[in-house]
Parts: sequence; C-alpha cells; structure tokens
Amino acid sequence: MELEGQVALVTGAAGGIGSAIARAFVEAGAAVALLDLASESLNALETDLRASGGLVLAVPADITQATEVSSAVNLSLAHFGRLTCLVNAVGILRQGRVDAMLETDWDELMNVNVKGVFLACKYAVPAIKTAGGGSIINLSSVSAFVGSIGSFAYTASKGAVLSLTYGIAQELGPFGIRVNAICPGWVDAGFTHQAMRQAPDPSLLIAQAREAHVLGRMAAPQEVADAAVFLASSRASFVTGTALNVDGGFMIKR
Ligand SMILES: NC(=O)c1ccc[n+]([C@@H]2O[C@H](COP(=O)([O-])OP(=O)(O)OC[C@H]3O[C@@H](n4cnc5c(N)ncnc54)[C@H](O)[C@@H]3O)[C@@H](O)[C@H]2O)c1
Repeated sequence: MELEGQVALVTGAAGGIGSAIARAFVEAGAAVALLDLASESLNALETDLRASGGLVLAVPADITQATEVSSAVNLSLAHFGRLTCLVNAVGILRQGRVDAMLETDWDELMNVNVKGVFLACKYAVPAIKTAGGGSIINLSSVSAFVGSIGSFAYTASKGAVLSLTYGIAQELGPFGIRVNAICPGWVDAGFTHQAMRQAPDPSLLIAQAREAHVLGRMAAPQEVADAAVFLASSRASFVTGTALNVDGGFMIKR
C-alpha cells in the first residue's frame, strides 16, 4: 500500500494507460478521481474499481475547457477532501506530414496534449499546495526525443509536455511538490491499437514495434502504471524534474 492516504486525480483515466494507472493507484491504497471525456467508459471503470473496494469518483470533463477542469477538481476535493497527486495520462494522436497536416488537427492535438496538461496543473496545484505537497506525473513519450515521419505534431506536443514538466518542477519544488514525466516507448494500449487499426498491414507494425525495443516487445500498460506508482510514492521522495524512460531500451537503440 505504497500510496495509502494519497488522493490522486488521473486525467485520461478511461484510456489504456490511464485506466491501468487508476487501477494501480487504487491497488496501492490511493483514492482516485477519474477524469476523461469518454463518460461511458469512465463510469464503467468507476463501477469496476468500486466493486473491488476502490475509493474512486468519476469526474467527466473535457480537458481543453477550463471551467470543466476546474469543476472536476472541485468535485474531487468536495468528495475526498484533499488532493495530493495529479497524473496526466490524457492525450490524442493525430498524424500527417507537415505539408499535409490539417491546421484543425494541429490545434486539436495541441489543445488536448499541451493546453490540457497545463489546465489540469493550473487547477490541481492550489489543492496539492493546500495538502502540504505531493506530486505531478505527466505522460510524455520517447517521441519527445526522436522524430518520426508523419508524427511531427505529436512529437512536438510530447516535447512540450516534457518542457513544461521541467519548468513546473522548478516552480513547485519549494512547495514540496515533485513534478516528473514518464516517457514510454510503444505500449500495448490505446494509441498503439489506434495506429494498428489504421495501418495497411498491422502485422508489419507489430513486428516494427517489437523490433524497436531492446526487450523485443511492447510494454504492458501495467508496466507504465508501476512507474507512476513509484513516482507518486515516498520511494521517489528526491526525484523531481525527471523524464523516466519506461521504454524497454527503445532510446539506447537509437
Ligand atoms: N500507447 C502508447 O504507445 C503511448 C506511448 C507513449 C506515450 N503515450 C501517452 O500516454 C497517454 C495515454 O495514451 P493511451 O495509449 O492510453 O491512449 P488512449 O487513447 O487509450 O487514452 C487517452 C484518453 O484521453 C481521453 N481524452 C482525449 N481527449 C480528451 C479530452 N479533450 N478531455 C478529456 N479526456 C480526453 C480519451 O477519451 C482517452 O480515454 C497519452 O498522453 C499518450 O501520449 C502512449
């Protein structure tokens, strides 16, 4: 029960990685507010986690809308009394080469992946300060470090998540709030499944995904969740402003 006594807000909680993080946090003893736009999946997750004894609350919201994010934080506070941790697992994937990318896709990507993380931090930070400290964990990606054809906008958004993590970590250190990023390689979850559905030959993509990692496979969402539990726990009490690669050796192959 590494997170006993903690109250976390997980954004993108209905997603592949977000739901694994929410579940892992509950299993580690935290109470968890679940934020996502996909209210049906969110409610199903809430029901499921409650059935296994979890203290959880679904707070459906669009992460790009300040009033909705603010209300979600307030609802979480009203329900649990405090907030000690924010995990940003929200995100979308939009692909296209630079000369073909739609401006609307760029705006949507930046709104969700970057502005969304900013808004979640903006409204959660006062509550975490009031609690006397805690942590923020942002899902970036190995894409923050390496370009890939057709994904320049996504990689830019994940680079921005990393940069804002470093800046916010400097601002919040004096308040006892640690701020870190996790950079996964390919995870056998949401985005990867989306890319596979769109690929002309999914088996080729699966082979590429395996080959990309020293460990010869993709990560299970649980393996990313385990890193989030570590970063939120007192075992990471001197870890801030870090990008933790949970990438099966993806980066050292480059
Ligand atoms: N899957 C991977 O291989 C991988 C690798 C590296 C990093 N990541 C990062 O991990 C995070 C989660 O990815 P995933 O694979 O679980 O994707 P996912 O699509 O399963 O989860 C993303 C969640 O965000 C929610 N969401 C989207 N727009 C929203 C909005 N406007 N307001 C509120 N919620 C919204 C979606 O409903 C979804 O539940 C993302 O930030 C992604 O960039 C994923």
